[in-house]
Amino acid sequence: MTIVSKDLLKAAEILSKEELVAIPTETVYGLAGNIYSETAIKKIFEMKNRPFFNPLIVHIHSVEQVEDLAVDFPEKAQELAKAFWPGSLTLVLKKNDKVPDLITAGKDTVGIRMPNHSLTLELLRNLDFPVAAPSANPFTHISPTTAQHVKNYFDGKLEMVLDGGNCTNGIESTIVGFENGEPVVYRLGSISVEEIERVVGKVSVRNNKEQAPNAPGMLEKHYAPRTKTYLVQDISAFIKQHPDKKIGLLLHSTDHESFDVSSITYLSKTGNLKEAASRLYSAMHEMDQLDLDMIIAQRLPDYDLGKSINDRLERATK
Ligand code: TXA
Ligand code: MG
Repeated sequence: MTIVSKDLLKAAEILSKEELVAIPTETVYGLAGNIYSETAIKKIFEMKNRPFFNPLIVHIHSVEQVEDLAVDFPEKAQELAKAFWPGSLTLVLKKNDKVPDLITAGKDTVGIRMPNHSLTLELLRNLDFPVAAPSANPFTHISPTTAQHVKNYFDGKLEMVLDGGNCTNGIESTIVGFENGEPVVYRLGSISVEEIERVVGKVSVRNNKEQAPNAPGMLEKHYAPRTKTYLVQDISAFIKQHPDKKIGLLLHSTDHESFDVSSITYLSKTGNLKEAASRLYSAMHEMDQLDLDMIIAQRLPDYDLGKSINDRLERATK
């Protein structure tokens, strides 16, 4: 017999009556609703203030569920699912007729992922429908990596935030679509391109709006703090140009010269990219509370997760 906690039962009950629950995943918290309920899905878009042209990711707990959602599961998609699920990979596959158009923004494909979080996997096993879950933040704001971040955004509006602790990976899943059976990365994320290539060989990357018309959510401005944020190469020079400003620095590691600014936040003292990714959004949330005039972020080395982090920093500074 499996013992389901009171919180999980409550979450399942709320989702079953077409309401929303914020759920933890290993990437960021998601705002979840029943994919087959038009009422629930409309609430997701409304609560996030998200435009309807931006499709949602469907969350599942077992690979068998892909059959209920997609008409085709290409060989390389299966290899990637085997290598990375449960985990931070979203596969974009040709959808079947049962997947509502509202989920996919009218597209003929659906994004599917099996998150790697024990609480959420258990919740999904206790539902008789998959959930759609975009990141639980208002449109263009920083994604939440703690239950408190979600509460700060939606206090009083959301019936339940299922608290699963801090998100261990800290940035969104990597999105991979298939063109003639070949993988194409539509969004850089928590699993690096290098890791994906170790499984399926060379892949192409189309991570921006112009290159990836297939991922309409890839808007330029996104993941942005309220404080004006800059991503710069020469930090000293930039600070000198803004002598009277209250500046917060967001640095990759402690390995740097000293700076005379109001606050310094390190993504990872040792320059570890995984740690930096896991800290990125919480650091941005914290800095946004400091009443700074500006945040100056340091560009990370452009490989592995450094690429994904730089992508988020670029969008935060638009
Ligand atoms: O890590 C994640 O993926 C998190 C957690 C909660 O699972 N979710 C997330 O969802 O980041 P969201 O809605 O914030 O971002 C979803 C992205 C959007 O950029 C959207 O355009 C893209 O996925 N997407 C969804 N369905 C798609 C499809 N059929 N084709 C192309 N892109 C799709
Ligand atoms: Mg998002």
